[in-house]
Amino acid sequence: MLLVRGGTVITADSSQPADVLCGDDGAILSVGPCLEIPTGAQVLDAGGLLVMPGGIDPHTHMEMPFMGEVASDDFFTGTAAGLAGGTTSIIDFVIPEQGGSLIDAWRAWRAKAEKAAADYGFHVAVTHWDERVSEEMGELVRDHGVSSFKHFMAYKGALMVDDGVLMRSLARAFELGALCNIHAENGEAVAWLQADLLSRGLTGPASHAASRPPLVEGEAAQRVIAIAGVHGAPVYIVHVSTEDATRAIAEARARGQRVYGEVLAQHLVIDDSVYKTDDWLSSARHVMSPPFRPRHHLDALWAGLASGTLQTTATDHCCFCEGAKRKGESDFTKIPNGTPGIEDRMSVLWHHGVRTGRLTPQEFVAVTSTNTARIFNMHPRKGVIAVGADADLVLWDPEGSRTISAATHHQNVDYNVFEGMTVTGLARHTITRGVLAWSDGDLRAVRGAGRYMERPCGNADMTASTLRAAARDPLVVA
Ligand code: URP
Ligand code: ZN
Ligand code: ZN
Ligand code: ZN
Repeated sequence: MLLVRGGTVITADSSQPADVLCGDDGAILSVGPCLEIPTGAQVLDAGGLLVMPGGIDPHTHMEMPFMGEVASDDFFTGTAAGLAGGTTSIIDFVIPEQGGSLIDAWRAWRAKAEKAAADYGFHVAVTHWDERVSEEMGELVRDHGVSSFKHFMAYKGALMVDDGVLMRSLARAFELGALCNIHAENGEAVAWLQADLLSRGLTGPASHAASRPPLVEGEAAQRVIAIAGVHGAPVYIVHVSTEDATRAIAEARARGQRVYGEVLAQHLVIDDSVYKTDDWLSSARHVMSPPFRPRHHLDALWAGLASGTLQTTATDHCCFCEGAKRKGESDFTKIPNGTPGIEDRMSVLWHHGVRTGRLTPQEFVAVTSTNTARIFNMHPRKGVIAVGADADLVLWDPEGSRTISAATHHQNVDYNVFEGMTVTGLARHTITRGVLAWSDGDLRAVRGAGRYMERPCGNADMTASTLRAAARDPLVVA
């Protein structure tokens, strides 16, 4: 047993001085002021610290095969780095081969993730459509704890799906009570712009951003919102990076449509100046999709987060070292897309969100943990500090400072997009299912200690037709 004593417990809806007793089974046994110390219990002094639900990153790509490379952080190193930053769970993405079985891919990802040091779940990508996909979506929901499916509207010739697949897959997911995640960028427009830029000899990483202007994201967000609206289905848009997409989500929500938006820590604080340099490698290291944007988009993202238009924060953690990035030295379309972030999301959000007054500490908990747990059917096991919940805790030092650097981070990648940024607010201790995994700079992550999280559909008790009617006309179920 582990007793966390003398901290201030902060959840998405309360803040109180309290102790937290974690049982040997990894669940929280009690929460309250001045708990007695059970015999044999380890005591951790949380004096002066905030005790919050461990972070949940709903968007990571550990050891993902992508663009001819494999992401360098694997399920162990990536989740261990997450623990060092206060993140205790991830939801990663199963990416089936084109035309391949969803179930086979899910099994392959389950095997890769056995080494994880923190708990993990999976979204499963739908990259083509046929009867087997439809059946396997059902099997994944019924038997394997998968309640969200991913769709890429970009990456033409690889992962991209068209509107026909989106129509079918959103309908099927809705019927199953599952939620669709969408990478919203118009892949046809990107492909045209890429070819045009290359034909004009513009082969450097700055062309990556030029080939994916904000309109391309805004259009795709609007289109998928319309497609979801036709079905009355909910939809979750990943890595929202523009004012355009944020506004599309806000308008849909104002109409009563159930649309969720996720924002990355990177997109909140880094702008497109990273592409305006002669340093090829530095620029290539910021090649991700969607790309970094002009400043005013960052303001719109913060406003979206503060107003509730965007509910979750993630990192899209997807690491490629110098050798991999250099594959695109003479052609920007061959630079593997992705940036790291899992270790620093919580600190970046605290420093730039809470310390600036944009978010309250409770809102910080909501956008780093609780909202994700709710949207993705992990609540109330995750995202809360309550009796019976998993004892996933971060003991947060709101005044502690550190300077982010690849020289000291735990991520298995040779750079950090937040390099040199001094942040105030850090994870002093991280507890995963009752076990101390990070303590005052000492990373004790255990290979294989993470468990697969089954995420059963939250609304399985409502039929799709009832939900469909409710989404069209809220009075139908009233
Ligand atoms: O550039 C990115 N985001 N790489 C990972 C794949 C994706 O689009 O999420
Ligand atoms: Zn099965
Ligand atoms: Zn994406
Ligand atoms: Zn991603």
